[in-house]
Amino acid sequence: MALLTIRHYPDPVLQQVAQPVTEIDEFIKTLAQNMVETMYAAPGVGLAAPQVGISQRLIVLDCAPKDEPSQLIIAVNPVVVSREGEQFEEEGCLSVPGYYCRIHRSQRITVRFLDLQGQAVEMVAEDFQAVAFQHEIDHLEGLLFVDHLSSLKKSMFRKKYTKIMEQQEQQL
Ligand code: NI
Repeated sequence: MALLTIRHYPDPVLQQVAQPVTEIDEFIKTLAQNMVETMYAAPGVGLAAPQVGISQRLIVLDCAPKDEPSQLIIAVNPVVVSREGEQFEEEGCLSVPGYYCRIHRSQRITVRFLDLQGQAVEMVAEDFQAVAFQHEIDHLEGLLFVDHLSSLKKSMFRKKYTKIMEQQEQQL
Protein backbone atom coordinates (compact mmCIF):
# COMPACT_ATOMS: atom_id res chain seq x y z
CA MET A 1 0.00 0.00 0.00
CA ALA A 2 1.18 3.48 -0.77
CA LEU A 3 -0.07 7.00 -0.66
CA LEU A 4 -0.33 8.51 -4.13
CA THR A 5 0.28 12.13 -5.10
CA ILE A 6 -2.96 13.95 -5.86
CA ARG A 7 -2.79 16.10 -8.98
CA HIS A 8 -4.14 19.64 -8.72
CA TYR A 9 -5.95 21.82 -11.23
CA PRO A 10 -4.75 22.86 -13.84
CA ASP A 11 -2.80 19.59 -14.32
CA PRO A 12 -3.67 18.44 -17.88
CA VAL A 13 -4.36 14.83 -16.80
CA LEU A 14 -7.46 16.16 -15.02
CA GLN A 15 -8.80 17.43 -18.35
CA GLN A 16 -8.32 14.21 -20.36
CA VAL A 17 -11.03 11.68 -21.11
CA ALA A 18 -9.91 8.51 -19.30
CA GLN A 19 -9.56 5.16 -21.07
CA PRO A 20 -11.80 2.21 -20.17
CA VAL A 21 -10.17 -0.45 -18.00
CA THR A 22 -9.81 -3.47 -20.30
CA GLU A 23 -8.49 -5.95 -17.75
CA ILE A 24 -8.77 -5.95 -13.96
CA ASP A 25 -5.17 -7.03 -13.44
CA GLU A 26 -2.73 -6.60 -10.56
CA PHE A 27 -1.93 -3.05 -11.69
CA ILE A 28 -5.60 -2.01 -11.42
CA LYS A 29 -6.13 -3.87 -8.11
CA THR A 30 -3.05 -2.27 -6.54
CA LEU A 31 -4.01 1.13 -7.94
CA ALA A 32 -7.50 0.78 -6.44
CA GLN A 33 -6.13 -0.14 -3.00
CA ASN A 34 -3.67 2.75 -3.10
CA MET A 35 -6.44 5.14 -4.18
CA VAL A 36 -8.57 3.99 -1.23
CA GLU A 37 -5.69 4.62 1.17
CA THR A 38 -4.98 8.01 -0.42
CA MET A 39 -8.67 9.00 -0.23
CA TYR A 40 -8.96 8.13 3.47
CA ALA A 41 -5.66 9.84 4.29
CA ALA A 42 -6.59 13.09 2.49
CA PRO A 43 -9.32 12.83 3.90
CA GLY A 44 -11.87 12.74 1.12
CA VAL A 45 -15.07 10.92 0.17
CA GLY A 46 -14.09 10.05 -3.38
CA LEU A 47 -11.15 9.78 -5.74
CA ALA A 48 -10.86 9.08 -9.47
CA ALA A 49 -7.77 7.56 -11.10
CA PRO A 50 -6.98 10.69 -13.18
CA GLN A 51 -6.55 12.55 -9.89
CA VAL A 52 -3.51 10.39 -9.19
CA GLY A 53 -2.24 10.77 -12.76
CA ILE A 54 -3.68 7.55 -14.23
CA SER A 55 -6.06 8.19 -17.11
CA GLN A 56 -8.21 5.07 -16.63
CA ARG A 57 -11.87 4.66 -15.71
CA LEU A 58 -11.63 3.71 -12.04
CA ILE A 59 -13.13 5.50 -9.04
CA VAL A 60 -13.35 4.89 -5.30
CA LEU A 61 -15.80 6.45 -2.87
CA ASP A 62 -17.01 6.20 0.69
CA CYS A 63 -19.86 8.49 1.65
CA ALA A 64 -20.53 7.02 5.10
CA PRO A 65 -21.04 9.71 7.76
CA LYS A 66 -18.21 10.07 10.28
CA ASP A 67 -18.27 7.44 13.06
CA GLU A 68 -20.41 5.08 10.97
CA PRO A 69 -19.22 1.89 9.27
CA SER A 70 -17.52 2.46 5.94
CA GLN A 71 -19.47 2.14 2.68
CA LEU A 72 -16.48 1.73 0.42
CA ILE A 73 -17.25 1.39 -3.28
CA ILE A 74 -14.60 0.60 -5.88
CA ALA A 75 -16.07 1.05 -9.36
CA VAL A 76 -14.42 0.06 -12.63
CA ASN A 77 -15.81 1.65 -15.82
CA PRO A 78 -18.77 3.26 -14.01
CA VAL A 79 -21.68 4.57 -16.08
CA VAL A 80 -24.79 6.50 -15.02
CA VAL A 81 -27.69 4.70 -16.72
CA SER A 82 -30.60 6.78 -15.41
CA ARG A 83 -31.17 9.91 -13.38
CA GLU A 84 -34.05 11.65 -11.62
CA GLY A 85 -34.63 14.83 -9.68
CA GLU A 86 -32.28 17.65 -8.87
CA GLN A 87 -30.12 18.84 -6.02
CA PHE A 88 -27.88 21.86 -5.53
CA GLU A 89 -25.28 21.22 -2.85
CA GLU A 90 -21.80 22.45 -2.01
CA GLU A 91 -18.91 20.46 -3.46
CA GLY A 92 -15.18 20.47 -3.15
CA CYS A 93 -12.46 18.38 -4.74
CA LEU A 94 -9.07 17.10 -3.61
CA SER A 95 -7.72 18.35 -6.95
CA VAL A 96 -9.07 21.87 -6.37
CA PRO A 97 -7.93 22.50 -2.80
CA GLY A 98 -9.52 25.33 -0.85
CA TYR A 99 -12.43 26.00 -3.21
CA TYR A 100 -16.06 25.03 -2.62
CA CYS A 101 -19.28 25.89 -4.44
CA ARG A 102 -22.80 24.63 -5.06
CA ILE A 103 -23.38 22.55 -8.19
CA HIS A 104 -26.56 21.27 -9.84
CA ARG A 105 -26.70 17.45 -9.85
CA SER A 106 -29.28 14.72 -10.25
CA GLN A 107 -30.82 13.67 -6.93
CA ARG A 108 -31.08 9.95 -7.65
CA ILE A 109 -29.10 7.96 -10.18
CA THR A 110 -28.68 4.35 -11.24
CA VAL A 111 -25.04 3.41 -11.81
CA ARG A 112 -23.51 0.35 -13.46
CA PHE A 113 -19.90 -0.71 -13.01
CA LEU A 114 -17.62 -3.70 -12.45
CA ASP A 115 -16.23 -4.52 -9.04
CA LEU A 116 -12.60 -5.63 -8.62
CA GLN A 117 -13.64 -9.25 -9.18
CA GLY A 118 -15.07 -8.27 -12.56
CA GLN A 119 -18.67 -8.76 -11.42
CA ALA A 120 -21.27 -6.40 -12.90
CA VAL A 121 -22.95 -4.24 -10.25
CA GLU A 122 -26.00 -2.04 -10.63
CA MET A 123 -26.97 0.24 -7.77
CA VAL A 124 -29.09 3.25 -6.98
CA ALA A 125 -27.41 6.22 -5.30
CA GLU A 126 -29.25 9.17 -3.79
CA ASP A 127 -28.44 12.54 -2.29
CA PHE A 128 -24.83 12.88 -1.15
CA GLN A 129 -23.75 9.52 -2.57
CA ALA A 130 -25.34 10.46 -5.91
CA VAL A 131 -23.33 13.70 -5.87
CA ALA A 132 -20.13 11.78 -5.17
CA PHE A 133 -20.74 9.33 -8.02
CA GLN A 134 -21.53 12.12 -10.49
CA HIS A 135 -18.50 14.14 -9.35
CA GLU A 136 -16.12 11.17 -9.66
CA ILE A 137 -17.52 9.97 -12.99
CA ASP A 138 -17.10 13.54 -14.28
CA HIS A 139 -13.37 13.20 -13.53
CA LEU A 140 -13.29 10.29 -16.02
CA GLU A 141 -14.66 12.66 -18.66
CA GLY A 142 -11.98 15.23 -17.89
CA LEU A 143 -14.47 17.45 -16.07
CA LEU A 144 -14.09 19.15 -12.71
CA PHE A 145 -17.00 20.40 -10.60
CA VAL A 146 -16.05 23.98 -11.48
CA ASP A 147 -16.61 23.15 -15.17
CA HIS A 148 -20.35 23.18 -14.35
CA LEU A 149 -20.18 26.86 -13.38
CA SER A 150 -21.35 29.62 -15.73
CA SER A 151 -18.50 31.35 -17.57
CA LEU A 152 -18.79 34.38 -15.27
CA LYS A 153 -18.60 32.23 -12.13
CA LYS A 154 -15.79 30.20 -13.63
CA SER A 155 -13.68 33.29 -14.25
CA MET A 156 -14.34 34.30 -10.61
CA PHE A 157 -13.23 30.82 -9.58
CA ARG A 158 -9.97 31.14 -11.58
CA LYS A 159 -9.09 34.43 -9.88
CA LYS A 160 -9.88 33.10 -6.41
CA TYR A 161 -8.06 29.81 -7.04
CA THR A 162 -4.94 31.63 -8.26
CA LYS A 163 -4.92 33.53 -4.96
CA ILE A 164 -5.40 30.33 -2.95
CA MET A 165 -2.48 28.70 -4.80
CA GLU A 166 -0.23 31.74 -4.25
CA GLN A 167 -1.01 31.71 -0.52
CA GLN A 168 -0.23 27.99 -0.31
CA GLU A 169 3.10 28.48 -2.09
CA GLN A 170 4.03 31.21 0.38
CA GLN A 171 3.30 28.86 3.25
CA LEU A 172 5.61 26.16 1.88
NI1 NI B 1 -12.95 15.68 -7.41
